[in-house]
Amino acid sequence: MWVFAPHVAHHAKAGQFLIVRVNDSGERIPLTISAVDGDAVRIIFMAVGKTTELLASLHAGDMIRDIAGPLGRPSELSKYGTCVVIGGGVGIASTPIIAKALKSAGNYVVGIIGARNAGLLILEDEMRACCDELFVTTDDGSKGIHGFAADVLKAELAKRHIDCVWIIGPAIMMKVTSGITLPYHVKTFVSLNPIMVDGTGMCGSCRVQVGGRTLFACVDGPEFDAHLVDFDLLMQRLRTYQPEERESMEHYHDHACSCKGER
Ligand SMILES: Cc1cc2nc3c(=O)[nH]c(=O)nc-3n(C[C@H](O)[C@H](O)[C@H](O)COP(=O)(O)OP(=O)(O)OC[C@H]3O[C@@H](n4cnc5c(N)ncnc54)[C@H](O)[C@@H]3O)c2cc1C
Ligand code: FES
Repeated sequence: MWVFAPHVAHHAKAGQFLIVRVNDSGERIPLTISAVDGDAVRIIFMAVGKTTELLASLHAGDMIRDIAGPLGRPSELSKYGTCVVIGGGVGIASTPIIAKALKSAGNYVVGIIGARNAGLLILEDEMRACCDELFVTTDDGSKGIHGFAADVLKAELAKRHIDCVWIIGPAIMMKVTSGITLPYHVKTFVSLNPIMVDGTGMCGSCRVQVGGRTLFACVDGPEFDAHLVDFDLLMQRLRTYQPEERESMEHYHDHACSCKGER
């Protein structure tokens, strides 16, 4: 979805995100800034709950009540050498903007994008255009290499020198994949996705443990040194509101037809 938001578009950098509130009574959810074009920013989202479903129900020309951004610290871009940018599932949304920025900084960029199946694979052409090499994987083998992005990373690390790795995807995928770079001492960044509310360091809902310190993903991140992150705590905290999320979704489905746009 392309959103006209000049105040965000003119300042956005790779690795940053925005917070949207779809309507007056809506909750605020974080979404990555996936691309910028003039006065517009692109968001790519998976409809997994009430707010993302509500967002998905909008049509061209509709309005989003608020957009706050750009938020978070931009990616730590530098000339590292050979960089691998890995996206898993909807996490692929974040990868082209990072890959492009790394390429502009003079790096050799290898992309690895993976999804459960071919239907969930996104931005392949865009990644192919901005990476020096691209690997595509699917868990079920319906496209590209049959397996996980982590398998490709493991094979590439055994074959060549890699200076830096970015991993963006579900928490479990980031945990497993960053475990592969640990014995090689390769600098590895992950973009964490805890529950967020204000996105400006005030509510504390995005607390994460990094290197034994409690940090706020919205202002101290969302990108962190992967080898210092407590992923188990992140995954536990992501489950905190599951009963409420389910209830909200059921309520939304029950009333979606009559109340669309007012809830
Ligand atoms: C910095 C940041 C950037 C993000 N960028 C994107 C993006 O570009 N595209 C995208 O689709 N999603 C992104 N997310 C996740 C997105 O914010 C959640 O999917 C969204 O909040 C779900 O809201 P909901 O009301 O639709 O679903 P809910 O009913 O709140 O949740 C439905 C399901 O999604 C899970 N969920 C809820 N919040 C999150 C979360 N923050 N991260 C992961 N799973 C969650 C719940 O555990 C539940 O299983 C990002 C999260 C962060 C913190
Ligand atoms: S989202 Fe509130 S402190 Fe980070």
